[in-house]
Amino acid sequence: MAEIFPASFASDNAAPATPEVMQALIEANQGSAPAYGNDIFTARLEKRFAEIFERKVAVLPVSTGTAANALALAACAQPWGLIYCHAGAHVIEHETGAPTFFSGARLVPLEGAHGKIAIEALSAALDRAGFGVVHESQPQAVSITQATEVGTTYALNEIRAIADLAHARGLKLHMDGARFANAVATLGVSPAEATWRSGVDILSFGATKNGAIAAEAIVVFEPALEPNLGFLRKRAGHLMSKQRYASAQIEAGLRDGLWLTWANHANEMARRLTAGLTPFGAAAILHPVEANEVFARLPELALAGLHADGFEFHRRPAPNRQVVRLVTSWRTRSEEVDSFVARALHHAALKGVSRQSL
Ligand SMILES: Cc1ncc(COP(=O)(O)O)c(C=O)c1O
Repeated sequence: MAEIFPASFASDNAAPATPEVMQALIEANQGSAPAYGNDIFTARLEKRFAEIFERKVAVLPVSTGTAANALALAACAQPWGLIYCHAGAHVIEHETGAPTFFSGARLVPLEGAHGKIAIEALSAALDRAGFGVVHESQPQAVSITQATEVGTTYALNEIRAIADLAHARGLKLHMDGARFANAVATLGVSPAEATWRSGVDILSFGATKNGAIAAEAIVVFEPALEPNLGFLRKRAGHLMSKQRYASAQIEAGLRDGLWLTWANHANEMARRLTAGLTPFGAAAILHPVEANEVFARLPELALAGLHADGFEFHRRPAPNRQVVRLVTSWRTRSEEVDSFVARALHHAALKGVSRQSL
């Protein structure tokens, strides 16, 4: 049995909040404060975002990533619109139609390797679209996920290429940044370069997966997208009366670059996991590990053994049950990673699984 308490690699949402976030909540809880975002914590958050993005931005805290994405996209697209995204994007696969519910627009899935929209696929889709034809839905936005759903990241030139293509045809570019911190930490670029300087118009900034309890923010770079967002958010039930608590959670991470420290740690744990799994062969790692997620194909006996040990992780549905998604967080300890790896190797070796039979 593993020497330490079995760890969870199920999700960064399974991780607790950081002590700094908890402390910020205690500080925000000292007295009365104006409601609906007119509090000093929200004012401080706006100031911090202006600093880290090196410009004035509109900031709208919400409590879930789905709300951030759906409302950001509703600001970009109308009921007769089309929103292009990767076929595996959270917005199209895992938000129960929320972006369409709030915008009315239809999501169009595009292909591309490793969770990233292929520029050729976007270009071909735009060429096929009936711009200005009253009988056809109108292309209005592109949504990219950074880091992607399979733990990869778009390089700045890839974002710029998508932005240029989108903007040339009058579309807005949205970035689902549920794991934006992990991507920025990996790319080693400034938040400004990662977004508006590369052509991003609006960002869903994630904090929940990176140390907060339940707080995300819509960050608006393109002023034309601002006017309706306040109304959209209220109508969706996401204008929190006690917004100070959401703002305080996000702001806690933006102090002293903590958000990147936490994300860097999560990324490092994912790299450590990947390195540990190398005896299973390079082909066992399905996507480049560029954030805090590892997708691995492991022998059934190793998976069954790890499960019996108490490790938590998600397996893909049949016929890909041997593919697991392993997610690390600010809280993942190196001992937990090492224990997972040691047990995986142990189970595989114990049952006589060889690299050839994987
Ligand atoms: C890439 C991505 N975007 C958005 C979300 C939405 O987050 P929530 O579950 O808070 O609505 C998630 C959550 O898993 C996600 O992985």
